[in-house]
Amino acid sequence: MKILMTTSEAVPFAKTGGLADAVSALSLSLAALGHDVRIVMPRYYPIDRAKLELIEGPLGVPVGWGEEWAAIYRTTLPVPAGTEHEVPVYMVDHENFFGRDGIYGIPSEPDFADNPRRFSFFSRSVFQLCRKLGWYPDIFHAHDWPTALVPVFLKHGERTGPFGKSSSVFTIHNIGYQGVYAKEFFPYTKLDWDLFRSAGFEDWDRMNLLKAGLVCADKLTTVSPTYAEETKTSAYGFRLDGVLRAREGDYAGILNGVDFDLWNPSTDTYIPVCYDRNDLSGKAIAKSALQKEFGLPVDPDVPVIGMVTRLTEQKGVGELFGPSYGSAWSICQDMALQFAILGSGERWCENELRSLSARLPNFRATIGYSERLSHMIEAGSDFFLMPSRYEPCGLNQMYSLAYGTPPIVRRTGGLADTVENYVQETGEGTGFMFDELTPRSIYDTVGWAVWAYYNKREDVEAMRIRGMELDFTWETSARRYLALYEKLAR
Ligand code: ADP
Ligand code: GLC
Repeated sequence: MKILMTTSEAVPFAKTGGLADAVSALSLSLAALGHDVRIVMPRYYPIDRAKLELIEGPLGVPVGWGEEWAAIYRTTLPVPAGTEHEVPVYMVDHENFFGRDGIYGIPSEPDFADNPRRFSFFSRSVFQLCRKLGWYPDIFHAHDWPTALVPVFLKHGERTGPFGKSSSVFTIHNIGYQGVYAKEFFPYTKLDWDLFRSAGFEDWDRMNLLKAGLVCADKLTTVSPTYAEETKTSAYGFRLDGVLRAREGDYAGILNGVDFDLWNPSTDTYIPVCYDRNDLSGKAIAKSALQKEFGLPVDPDVPVIGMVTRLTEQKGVGELFGPSYGSAWSICQDMALQFAILGSGERWCENELRSLSARLPNFRATIGYSERLSHMIEAGSDFFLMPSRYEPCGLNQMYSLAYGTPPIVRRTGGLADTVENYVQETGEGTGFMFDELTPRSIYDTVGWAVWAYYNKREDVEAMRIRGMELDFTWETSARRYLALYEKLAR
């Protein structure tokens, strides 16, 4: 099949979160199964043009009352040596829209004022690109609000001629971000005003891009079965639960996988010594390296709790670090443990982490983004904490399972689908879970893990191995997506 992934992020070119990992890994797995998969994304400013191949001739993209002109570059996803298949990546280059720092925004302007124009332009350019290449996909697979207009454009206007047989799949990676803008931007899409309501844009007199995508796409997916159910409820649907209930028959949850070429303790080049489930001695070395790196007392006997996260409400940071009622302070005061945290995001939270690092001897946070440190934390920690308010899939808990680092998680979304709770009586399980998102439950569950570390060490060691034996391959997910694509193509 011919599949075009339309996305605002893909590793290793541009990433703010798991979306980037998911799109690239899924594309590679589909290609490995023998399909013609290509990716199209914007060429952001930091992506060096010199490393890309320029495709001859400018691309005209109809928008608003006129036309914008773009250049198209081509590259491929990096693949491990010896791999036969390749995934071409096309990058749409437009100085005015993408020649700046930031994918969606910058700290002083988290959501660029012209985002509706930038991503409307980009979503339209996708069709022009196919025409230019003379390559017409069976499936347009769009991801999250930035490319939500792709299924809308396909349904309303583009599904003619060579696109007559094309279908669309739209995947929600996070329903908390919807791309809601003043309706004055609507004419820029070049769609008829009749469609403002009927195509699902209308949202309290504003324009909701995600909602239109959900109304117009042929099939909808999200990244775990539990999140698919949760998003149909008012507690998790961010006001779009009704839309999803109405499309229930076309909506499914497909769990993400782990790219074991990138996240594998037996080949990881970021950690001092590799290890696997038959010999965990490299993990102990990673632990002391992590303690040293983070300025924590080097002590093999004290449990290290790791976190790698965007610092936003979604991740439960209010309950964990909130200055007046968060639980991190008391956890560190009351328990013999250490915290090693890597994250960036909301300013208050970054400041709180700095302050806790300065006041507590057993708490260290690094503010920023570091691929290397994220691998170090996965490998060197004893437990990995994710108290998410909601979690569509979550990749880090799967990485930590693969690294023999039992996760401590809230039972929600993909966390509920990938972690099995510890059963003290039998020693079963792969992690520690709680239900209520309160400082108290986080405190208690971290306490439970720490208690097990000191008192049920053999159980914890068995949990490590059990987690490392799990096999969340992308191939399984890719086959599920294929089944969906094939249904549409028929
Ligand atoms: P989300 O996409 O909601 O942020 P996921 O768990 O799906 O959550 O994916 C997060 C991804 O981003 C993981 O690959 C994680 O390692 C990475 N990540 C998040 N914050 C950082 C950071 N500060 N430094 C390095 N990697 C990070
Ligand atoms: C989103 C979600 C995360 C998921 C990722 C990849 O960023 O927050 O849970 O793993 O997308 O699908």
